[in-house]
Amino acid sequence: MIDDKNDMDERSREFLKDRFGTTKNLELLDRLSPFGTNPESWPLWVLRHLPLKPHDAILEVGCGTGRFWAEVSPHLPVGVRICLTDVSPAMVFAARKTMAGEHDPDFLVDDVESLCFKGVCFDAVFANHVLHAVPNISAAFAEISRVLKPGGIMIFSVMSNEHMRELGVALAELHPKFVYPTSGVRRLSLECDKPELSARFHTVRVNTHVDVLEVSDKDLIVDTALSIFNGIKYPDLSPYAGDFKKLVLSRMQKNDGIFHLTTKNGLYTCRRI
Ligand SMILES: C[S@@+](CC[C@H](N)C(=O)[O-])C[C@H]1O[C@@H](n2cnc3c(N)ncnc32)[C@H](O)[C@@H]1O
Repeated sequence: MIDDKNDMDERSREFLKDRFGTTKNLELLDRLSPFGTNPESWPLWVLRHLPLKPHDAILEVGCGTGRFWAEVSPHLPVGVRICLTDVSPAMVFAARKTMAGEHDPDFLVDDVESLCFKGVCFDAVFANHVLHAVPNISAAFAEISRVLKPGGIMIFSVMSNEHMRELGVALAELHPKFVYPTSGVRRLSLECDKPELSARFHTVRVNTHVDVLEVSDKDLIVDTALSIFNGIKYPDLSPYAGDFKKLVLSRMQKNDGIFHLTTKNGLYTCRRI
């Protein structure tokens, strides 16, 4: 069970604020997705699990750079209205740019813990890799249920503890102080118990999507590892960047120039009572 009280300490909050203050880290993930080998990409797979009807209204909380919609918007049912929100103004700015000329969504800077919508407005709410970064997850669920129509759908994704494990394993080879996997229970992951949803949700389903990326860009691997692991639980990795680059390069040379990276994510589908 997750401890969903205001359990994110001040240091973690500051870290995340800093992390999402710019789009730099998310842009690395955008660059990785074309290396996927799963014939059904994560965005299209998610869309298949989201029962949208023509003219439905969907809210995305924590939209980041809007990369999800760039891929799925040509496949949406007719007349679907999208509202993209994020607590970070830099993300909303980037999402506007990503979606310029596409589907004409609404954009708002908004916090999922205190959404600005006054009443019930949406047929679906989507949170893609967001809730683990929200200090009070219960408050987020309560706000999502407040703006969802009865019978509406909330979908949210969670990472597996195994997500991109090859990066952690490679770092652990570099130096004993890079322990992988990290100790401690994650607040929200595919392996955690089902999170405490507000009493307003039922019919929870969890599906899993796995992709093996065949990455041929060594700098992208190194930058992604530094971006993902240079955090709260790991020491500053920048002094090790050179050695890590050598390790990645030697591994790729033995493997036809490819670094395999496995992504593993879960998707909760919940219906509002
Ligand atoms: C890992 S990123 C995911 C972005 C996007 N959904 C994607 O999949 O590319 C997490 C996003 O959640 C946003 N976020 C974090 N806390 C939030 C909050 N309390 N309310 C709304 N957005 C939040 C961050 O600014 C960031 O854009």
